[in-house]
Amino acid sequence: MKTVFPIHKFRELPTPFYYYDTKVLRDTLACVNREVARYDNFSVHYAVKANANPKVLTIIRESGLGADCVSGGEIRAAIKAGFPAGKIVFAGVGKADWEIDLGLDYDIFCFNVESVPELEVINELAAAKGKVANVAFRINPNVGAHTHANITTGLAENKFGISMHDMDKVIDVALELKHVKFIGLHFHIGSQILDMGDFIALCNRVNELQDKLEARHILVEHINVGGGLGIDYDHPNRQPIPDFADYFRTYDEHLKLRPHQTLHFELGRAITGQCGSLISKVLYVKQGTNKQFAILDAGMTDLIRPALYQAHHKMENLTSQDPVVETYDVVGPICESSDVFGKAVDLNKVKRGDLIALRSAGAYGEIMASGYNCRELPKGYISEELV
Ligand code: LLP
Repeated sequence: MKTVFPIHKFRELPTPFYYYDTKVLRDTLACVNREVARYDNFSVHYAVKANANPKVLTIIRESGLGADCVSGGEIRAAIKAGFPAGKIVFAGVGKADWEIDLGLDYDIFCFNVESVPELEVINELAAAKGKVANVAFRINPNVGAHTHANITTGLAENKFGISMHDMDKVIDVALELKHVKFIGLHFHIGSQILDMGDFIALCNRVNELQDKLEARHILVEHINVGGGLGIDYDHPNRQPIPDFADYFRTYDEHLKLRPHQTLHFELGRAITGQCGSLISKVLYVKQGTNKQFAILDAGMTDLIRPALYQAHHKMENLTSQDPVVETYDVVGPICESSDVFGKAVDLNKVKRGDLIALRSAGAYGEIMASGYNCRELPKGYISEELV
């Protein structure tokens, strides 16, 4: 399955913009649903942080997934796209009072709580509304993921989560409070993980913690293992759909789920990553001393991942059929030397006006755009609107 770009339509649109191939998105969602249906008690929430474009969110909601939100704004976006409140979980290390109130007003499924002070505030705010909030504790499993340092979250000294050693104490506090109901444990070890061994390490840790809880006669109904499944940035066409079968099977084989427990997943990148591309235009080809630069009208304000994480996004010249391939440093127009999409990139010979696609940009692309340099935010189009 290869993304076919409607180039004639692209020529009519101001660049840069995001383009979402809904066939890839729908096929990905169908695969998630097919694979997860093999297990009675697995449930998938889409991590809204990866992409909250309303058109994309609506397609995801139609597929039946729940939503994992990390802010009041994301809860609003999910509700607006039609996600049922009963399928929304709310995580985040710093939930403001108004955000907790919003979650309480909508009666969302669960708050993933990251500290005792937060637990106490949720209890207080729920009491003021005469409600009882479902809570799960985010436990830091001290499992390192083999991914970029900025996107691993599960190590011991981390702003996220509650240390494993404090788990019992925190549960005791929750059991005393009248307006929270302790229903589960939550984990997340990082993002862009391709080595199933990392998820196996998490399963082993969850098993240990469950044994400890069982020794105290505490049985939780819900285990949430977060997200993190990676995508193939090098070959967006060869393998557009991640190996969900292997991913769910890994959890089924290694995590000892107790009867009546539900296992929740919060997948972001694996769902929207491959359906999106950033489309931009070449402004200039500039000859340097030892290299040449392709200067695009898109920059780090539109797609920050290369500048922030040295992330690689495959690039394609959509306009040129020129059989000559040349090597370019592909850069943006922002006044920052880190505004580079790639060094020594081979492209079909580039000229001013050519359209360049930066692939695999459907997750953490449009949503992380900024207005730095007083630039406009890029628009997002789905393939169905451009036929
Ligand atoms: N659950 C929690 C608690 C998370 O913190 C995250 C991502 C997810 C789920 C979804 O993870 P995913 O399935 O997408 O890997 N901006 C970075 C990625 C940051 C991920 C933050 N947390 C990037 O562009 O690579």
